Amino acid sequence: MGELRGTHVPVLLERCLELLAPALGRGGRTVHVDATLGLAGHAEAVLDAHPETVLIGLDRDTEALAHARVRLARFADRVHLEHAVYDELPEVLGRLGYPGIDGILFDLGVSSLQLDAPDRGFAYAQDAPLDMRMDQTRGVTAEEVVNTYAHPDLARVLRVYGEEKFAGRIASAILRERERARITSSARLAELVRESIPAPARRTGGHPAKRTFQALRIEVNKELAALETALPAALDKLNVGGRMVVLSYHSLEDRLTKAALNDRVRSKGPVDLPVELPGSGPTFRLLSRGAELPGEVEVAANPRAASVRLRAAERLDPDAAQQGRTDRERYRRRVKAMHQPGAGSGGSEADPTNPGGRDRDGRRGGGT
Ligand SMILES: C[S@@+](CC[C@H](N)C(=O)[O-])C[C@H]1O[C@@H](n2cnc3c(N)ncnc32)[C@H](O)[C@@H]1O
Repeated sequence: MGELRGTHVPVLLERCLELLAPALGRGGRTVHVDATLGLAGHAEAVLDAHPETVLIGLDRDTEALAHARVRLARFADRVHLEHAVYDELPEVLGRLGYPGIDGILFDLGVSSLQLDAPDRGFAYAQDAPLDMRMDQTRGVTAEEVVNTYAHPDLARVLRVYGEEKFAGRIASAILRERERARITSSARLAELVRESIPAPARRTGGHPAKRTFQALRIEVNKELAALETALPAALDKLNVGGRMVVLSYHSLEDRLTKAALNDRVRSKGPVDLPVELPGSGPTFRLLSRGAELPGEVEVAANPRAASVRLRAAERLDPDAAQQGRTDRERYRRRVKAMHQPGAGSGGSEADPTNPGGRDRDGRRGGGT
């Protein structure tokens, strides 16, 4: 392993620790999974804060794992570091002999180590071979995607994963160029993208190649497919009182996270039934109201935090979930009664399922 290339400032660190603390600090050997270990900034802080907690750290990048191993050496007796894609979590837990976990953090996307490495091809600002694989031991490279995909497939990748308005034009330019010569470098690709975008659009929205590089990275690493499988699998592994925190950096990741959590926090039983049918109640409660955004101070200190969206949830005790449903139903009936003719004023538009308009920790969210 060479020198550590670049540094990575953990995003929303204090908030992540605060959210995970009730689950990890409840006594005994609690188990925390860092599904995206990276350079282990979050993991180290969790291990420092919870001297009894066992950490299982996953990363698909062997270089990140090697650095994390050095950083976490002083905790070696309670750390397992695994080279795995996070959708392999159930198999990893089975192999290590942990049936359930108490905390899990997903800090999605690339690390500064990957972005800053001059030879990995993630950055449009540095010339490098077009690789972009987070796991350099397997999978197709960005060079293969760019030089072999048919026009409609390439345009779809750029449009969907990069939210690129000029996806068709960029795909056409790539196809024209590769008839002339294979595209092998990140600088050549960045130049092609810049040339394909109309001049006025080049002056807005950051570097013109930013969205194309994001899209290729997501495609090369099959990031969304892995996340879509990993989130429900991880929720299934959480013990009662266990907590999940997810940090997303673009809308597609955040949308998948929101959908996975919403699926668990809603009752699947009939709305008007005062009691929950067995197995139909919510199994989680949200700890974040909407998506939480970073503060200005953090963004000023760490530009990587600018696009972060945090969502978190806690696994409910099934009996408490039933009680919650009964309480909510009673409250709903009381509010309804207040609106009956002759019931007096008090006509505020309270949400009967959330009387205070805030979550239990009193926070308001920034997004939907
Ligand atoms: C943003 S960094 C994590 C940084 C870390 N929280 C820290 O404090 O240093 C994301 C890491 O997740 C890894 N990663 C991304 N997708 C993954 C996946 N599907 N499975 C496993 N690791 C993944 C990347 O290789 C990268 O090292």
